[in-house]
Amino acid sequence: MANRLGESGELDGLKRPDGLEGKVAVITGAASGIGAATARVLVREGASVVLGDINDAALEKLVAELGDSAVGLHADVTQEEGIRSLVQAALDSFGRLDVLDNNAAAEIPEDTGTATSSDEAWRRTFDLNVMAAVWGARHAIPAMLASDGGGSIINISSGAVRHPTATKAAYGACKSALETFSLYLGAQHGAAGIRSNVVRPGFVLTEGVRDIFDEEQRSRFADMLTLGRVCEPQDVAETVAFLASPASGYVNCAVLDIDGGGARPMVSW
Ligand SMILES: NC(=O)c1ccc[n+]([C@@H]2O[C@H](COP(=O)([O-])OP(=O)(O)OC[C@H]3O[C@@H](n4cnc5c(N)ncnc54)[C@H](O)[C@@H]3O)[C@@H](O)[C@H]2O)c1
Repeated sequence: MANRLGESGELDGLKRPDGLEGKVAVITGAASGIGAATARVLVREGASVVLGDINDAALEKLVAELGDSAVGLHADVTQEEGIRSLVQAALDSFGRLDVLDNNAAAEIPEDTGTATSSDEAWRRTFDLNVMAAVWGARHAIPAMLASDGGGSIINISSGAVRHPTATKAAYGACKSALETFSLYLGAQHGAAGIRSNVVRPGFVLTEGVRDIFDEEQRSRFADMLTLGRVCEPQDVAETVAFLASPASGYVNCAVLDIDGGGARPMVSW
């Protein structure tokens, strides 16, 4: 049978979407975990990245690993100036901005429970998870529009919005607020070519999580899951890369659960 693949490897009339070559992404909280994995995957796919974090040592190491495709900046995203400086660095270093990945998060030990957490814990959690994204949109959207290629904003939420834990009520509630903010962003700016989507990981084996659970606990957890393995940071990063790229051009206002399908069915009838 005749092969319908042309020289470019495309089927007749079926154009391959552009990839991330030439695109520029800002990633917050990029020095470790899911953010670092995302930086590696986006650079692998041809993007340039501006990486922000407050952990300077880890950030410096990652930037050295990624070479000329990456710029790192000390940027505390609980301050508007932190996120503004990342957007500016994208324009100064690479001349454009296409992608904003709102990824930064932190453990706030005072985020104990619904009634017991301090106001300060609630406010810090809100600033980090919600205001950082608000400020990000405020500065990134004009830069994306000026770059003339549309844009993609990716907001990293958490399965905690649907599966409450014994502590961290502020974290779960603020991630819910981030999801709703993402929906409004996509609705209000979609017509201008700027998409906004949520990536909602379940339990991910980042360095921090590896420290808390031993090998046996991790393996018991994996046995309970539909896919039989625990999520790695790269699993989340690949989804972020898809949402960042033109291949997801009709995905807007979506929430993608990256939990491998969750728990295995407990009964078999
Ligand atoms: N690991 C998981 O199991 C899991 C599950 C669901 C959702 N998430 C979400 O994934 C995202 C990444 O988390 P992770 O697990 O990779 O965490 P991580 O702790 O490995 O990485 C978070 C990064 O954010 C940085 N950061 C903290 N406060 C900051 C600030 N004010 N300004 C800038 N950077 C700051 C930290 O220094 C760190 O490098 C978060 O939004 C988190 O809520 C993680």
